[in-house]
Amino acid sequence: MDDLKQSLGYKYLQQTKFDPQSIRRMERLEIYPTELFKKFPDPEKIMLPTDWQKDSSLQGALQGRRSNRRYQDSPLSIQDLAMLLWASQGITGRAGNYYFRAAPSAGALYPIETYLAINNVETVAAGLYHFQVAEFCLAKLSSGFMGEEVAQAALGQSFLAKAGVVFIWSAVLRRNFVKYGHRGLRYVLMDVGHICQNMLLAAEALNLGACPVAAFYDDELNRLLNLDGEEESVVYLASVGSKQ
Ligand SMILES: Cc1cc2nc3c(=O)[nH]c(=O)nc-3n(C[C@H](O)[C@H](O)[C@H](O)COP(=O)(O)O)c2cc1C
Repeated sequence: MDDLKQSLGYKYLQQTKFDPQSIRRMERLEIYPTELFKKFPDPEKIMLPTDWQKDSSLQGALQGRRSNRRYQDSPLSIQDLAMLLWASQGITGRAGNYYFRAAPSAGALYPIETYLAINNVETVAAGLYHFQVAEFCLAKLSSGFMGEEVAQAALGQSFLAKAGVVFIWSAVLRRNFVKYGHRGLRYVLMDVGHICQNMLLAAEALNLGACPVAAFYDDELNRLLNLDGEEESVVYLASVGSKQ
């Protein structure tokens, strides 16, 4: 269908195709590796609790999950937030120097970083945080809920400003592209889909409302998070709050 061929997505999929004849001769890009865990110079750290149940029903969560854009004012507990973070990106296994996480990742390269715009979570001040996977803690980046700014950057989707917390996922492209080159973007986007879905199911299991969001102005969100949009760029969001 010629009309489809106009889209960048179509061109990208065509140009990153593998085929059995040429796969061994494919050009390998010279991309330098980068650190697996993102660090900030000496941030204030909020350690996350691990004293929550891990026995919720998967079937109930699959059946019950619906995108929910209406939230109550009541706060999320820090246990609930910790469970959502664990379900999305928590370390669940180890083999030698490799740490495996709750969501799968192409080549175990884990290119996705999680930022949180926290509005209403018990015992955690409103602000922008980064989830430090290795230490299972939050690094505080700035104070004050930036929900209004996030909502504006997400094409004015105002429900984001009413959420208890907005998950903002970015991709450190180099972490994946160092191995997968031209084909890497496919996997980065799959990775973030797995992470988001884990989080959405965990939210449902906790009887929280959540909604994935991919409509946003890239440059505006990157600016809010102080990301350059080249090495690291926002790829997906999700709001979470107490169900109405
Ligand atoms: C990739 C993706 C992007 C989405 N972006 C938005 C968005 O920007 N705003 C929004 O309100 N919902 C968004 N959604 C939620 C969809 O509208 C929703 O999943 C769909 O209507 C099906 O409903 P359900 O999630 O309740 O099953 C998105 C969902 C996906 C998977």
